[in-house]
Amino acid sequence: KLIYLKNSAYQKHRNYSQILQEKNSIEKVTKRLNSQKYVPFMQEINFRMDEANRSILVQVHSSQSYKELYSYCNTFGNVKKMMHYSCGVEPMHFIIVEFEEESNVKDILSASTHTEDSQVVPTYSQFLWFRASSRKLSKLKQSKTAVLTCEDATTIVKESEVKDMLLKCEDVSEQMITLYENTKLNDVGSRLRFLTAKQLESTVSGMFPNANAFPFGSSVNGCGKMGCDLDLVLRLDNVKENNKSRLIYHCKAYSGSERSTSQRHMETIGDIIHLFLPGCSQVRRILQAKVPIIKYHQHLTNVECDLSMTNMSGVYMSDFLYMMGSIDPRVRPLIFAVRKWASEVGLTNPSPGRWISNFSLTLLVLAFLQRPINSEPILPSLNTLTKFARPEDKYITEDGINCTFLRDLNLLSFKTKNQESLSDLLAEFFEFYSQFDFGSKAICLNEPVSLTKPEHSAMYIVNPLERGLNVSKNVSLEELEKFKVEIRSAAWALESQENKIGNWGLLSIFERRNNPSQFTLSSKHRMMEVSTLFNEENPIEFKNNNVKNQVESI
Ligand code: GTP
Ligand code: MG
Repeated sequence: KLIYLKNSAYQKHRNYSQILQEKNSIEKVTKRLNSQKYVPFMQEINFRMDEANRSILVQVHSSQSYKELYSYCNTFGNVKKMMHYSCGVEPMHFIIVEFEEESNVKDILSASTHTEDSQVVPTYSQFLWFRASSRKLSKLKQSKTAVLTCEDATTIVKESEVKDMLLKCEDVSEQMITLYENTKLNDVGSRLRFLTAKQLESTVSGMFPNANAFPFGSSVNGCGKMGCDLDLVLRLDNVKENNKSRLIYHCKAYSGSERSTSQRHMETIGDIIHLFLPGCSQVRRILQAKVPIIKYHQHLTNVECDLSMTNMSGVYMSDFLYMMGSIDPRVRPLIFAVRKWASEVGLTNPSPGRWISNFSLTLLVLAFLQRPINSEPILPSLNTLTKFARPEDKYITEDGINCTFLRDLNLLSFKTKNQESLSDLLAEFFEFYSQFDFGSKAICLNEPVSLTKPEHSAMYIVNPLERGLNVSKNVSLEELEKFKVEIRSAAWALESQENKIGNWGLLSIFERRNNPSQFTLSSKHRMMEVSTLFNEENPIEFKNNNVKNQVESI
């Protein structure tokens, strides 16, 4: 009855009354976060990967199909969890079925079939649809009633709903918690991203049985909001040290330089995604960038993917951000508020360019929290984490980037005495950077000092894992000026607010003031911005190079 899925699209939505019921007080959230034991990043990633290995994604007729689907699936093994979501104007329905065992998924997949349509590519993946059955059969199946309820999975909260919630809050701190709790990536969002990674991994597994597609970036570092992109690094094999076997695989040697070979490989992976992967479309290859990437959209999970095949430093960076976000319950709500503010006032833009990125903003928040605030830092420096690293925390990428730092927070003896409210921290963040000497100083997370800038980029944030690199090298002088204007404006708006009139608190800083945003630039103007950027002699580091693609798509 299960048929391998070809293609379809869905959008996420969520029931408003449900959100209101879930309204969280700061105390509740803080208590919950404080009572949770820290799960190290790699453990969490492995848990999610295992969950994806034990899951299938099934398109169904309606939410009512879950009982029948449950009965069907349960004949292959114990179903642990079912989560339903629907989407679109003419709603399409999907159910994630999680089994107890990975072997159950193997069994159900080998029993599944393709449509008899000779026009489809008969690929195998964990994306399927549930064929309607004859009435008789359906009644028979339903008599074995499902013992499991199917969770109605929540998805994106509408902007207007978030705004209503923020207006109803008691104070700015509660607004920040509310924003964070209602826009952060939820369980289903996370499952869908790991299923998307799994699809790619199993596609290449025929030739590369040890291949891994590791999610990194905001999908896993705790800073992701619903609908965030999925950054993936595809590794074709694990490096096995000390394998003394006398039998060695015959392999093809690289033809040409490592870079050109890797570009060819990525081109081929791009073709495979485009031609054979169900649900994947809009494949764009950005291979001239310092880090070549392939962008594509997975419609079945509604996830935009950025795939690279480089080293693991992006994953280790995510580990660092994830740890920092877990040290204190105020960190992530503060990051969310700052990222939302920057997006609302037009400082950031979904496409990369001369403006500050979400990643740089996140590092600005962390660097601020590492400094003494009322003489007490809230976060330790990276050097402190490195000092406590154990032998098992030693990670060095193939190209020599040292990513060694303590991975288990339970072993960190750092506890801040700072008890400031979120609203005070937000105001102080704006205050701190409105006075920061961007002209001569660099921001550094390795140690809590501001260093002298080693070169003339407008903004300099030392890449914590590769200290010779500037994460915000792309930021132009003009964008830095806008940033400073907006940050002063926000500091002033928060400070001068006495009562809750109109769009108060967070909503007041989300209003655009002096800065005509990039979003309002004409496409011609934007294309000029993007093409100048790409023609620079010294291309912007890492992902920002993917502007070439923007030029092509414009
Ligand atoms: P959103 O996708 O905007 O939600 O945030 P994100 O943190 O995922 O940012 P993005 O997708 O742009 O980048 C994903 C990851 O790539 C980041 O978390 C970093 O680890 C890494 N990254 C992004 N930009 C840079 C950069 O300029 N330099 C370096 N070294 N790494 C970067
Ligand atoms: Mg991302």
